[in-house]
Amino acid sequence: MNAPTFHFICPDHWINDPNGLVYADAEWHLFYQLNPFGNDWGHMSWGHAVSRDLLHWEHLPIALREDVERGEMIFSGSAAVDWHNTSGLGTGARLPLVAAYTAHSAREQTQHLAFSVDGGRTWVPYADNPVIAIGSREFRDPKLFWHAPTRRWVMACALADRHQVRFYGSVDLRAWTLLSDFGPAGSADGLWECPDLFWLPTDDDPPQQRWVLKVDDQRLGAQYFIGQFDGVRFTCEDPPDRIRRVDFGRDFYAAQSWNDAPAGRHVWLAWMNHWDYARRTPALPWRGMMTLPRELALRRFPDGLHLVQCPVRELRNLRRTHHGCAGLSVAEADSWLRERGVRGTALEIAAEFACAGAATFGLHVRTGAAEQTTISYHAPEGRLMVDRSRSGDVSFSPRFDERSVAPCPLRNGTLALHIMVDAYSVEVFADGGRVVLSSLIFPQPESDGVRIFGDGEVWVESFEVWPLA
Ligand code: FRU
Repeated sequence: MNAPTFHFICPDHWINDPNGLVYADAEWHLFYQLNPFGNDWGHMSWGHAVSRDLLHWEHLPIALREDVERGEMIFSGSAAVDWHNTSGLGTGARLPLVAAYTAHSAREQTQHLAFSVDGGRTWVPYADNPVIAIGSREFRDPKLFWHAPTRRWVMACALADRHQVRFYGSVDLRAWTLLSDFGPAGSADGLWECPDLFWLPTDDDPPQQRWVLKVDDQRLGAQYFIGQFDGVRFTCEDPPDRIRRVDFGRDFYAAQSWNDAPAGRHVWLAWMNHWDYARRTPALPWRGMMTLPRELALRRFPDGLHLVQCPVRELRNLRRTHHGCAGLSVAEADSWLRERGVRGTALEIAAEFACAGAATFGLHVRTGAAEQTTISYHAPEGRLMVDRSRSGDVSFSPRFDERSVAPCPLRNGTLALHIMVDAYSVEVFADGGRVVLSSLIFPQPESDGVRIFGDGEVWVESFEVWPLA
């Protein structure tokens, strides 16, 4: 077993960022940064897969290849359906799909377009590329979307070393005008990459509309800002130094939301990795995996609005035999797990703990003779932690075995955890999806146990497990 059960990989190859996420003709398209020639970063091109349920992916031929003659690699970007054929590139019955991507050369990074009129199967670079060039080497990752109120296209690009997101507008996808810049703000330690901008309804009654600007900081990972976008400018509602993390784990980067998702859904996924060690993780022989697809929402908490994420509902279709218990002590719940023989390398776990006073509790997953990945809660500090220092192979990089910690309050004295375990990953969702920790792990396939532990006044209110297949 060297493949995950429910996470996307490209067999034998290196992949990084998701690209060109667009829903069209009942297909979820997933393009991604691919090295067609090996399992290290290089020769960047766009790989391609499609799915009808966000879980089962059909691999398709490479969509966009590096241009060796011009010395240009195909870096990250996005795609959308040109519903009104604003580009005039549609032919007859089929609406064009349009992709915006960064052409990377030793000299410069510029924004290019490509079109498809056969449902994304084949792509033709636009004849007058580049559509935007500013003479910069740190100008990349265009996220394209249709801004309905102003009836034009907007493209958000990263000015990576200036820690800014730059917005452009266009009525025909060909001619672009500069709209505004946002940043620096939040975390600006590392390069800024892969911006995404979309609106979400809040859960207020009646719902309000807010825009979410996500941008990755190469050191911190994904961060986001909440505010308004009027078609020209993004105005953040937070103080400029406030940092909002999308994911408190180390392995959630370059997330992108699907354009044109059906039924008002807002879904994204990310590259499950960190540039600190991405090129040194074990070659299986594939290298690089996506996170689970996650549904997004904005929810109001006592301290204001937050982005919340939860695994897409389609994942429930993978559930097998259900195991459940309720109202047990930690020791009783742990024996119950063993009596039932609950184990697996692909599991969904929903656990609710109740605690009073000082308590430390949690669970170990993927346990084996000398391995375990620990998810623990420390009530005195109100902190949720994932510790992978004993998870399996951690030898390939000194930066890998760090613990991930998130501030996470109890709600009415309880902590509800939703945990997705797979062959090479653990994703923990807490506090209604406000707190997420995503971590790669490299355990032995035989390490498939689950344990519950706790100290102090803590009870297992309920514990449910489903093996996933
Ligand atoms: C983010 C990134 C992007 C770039 C791509 C190159 O992971 O560095 O900024 O377009 O990867 O593969």
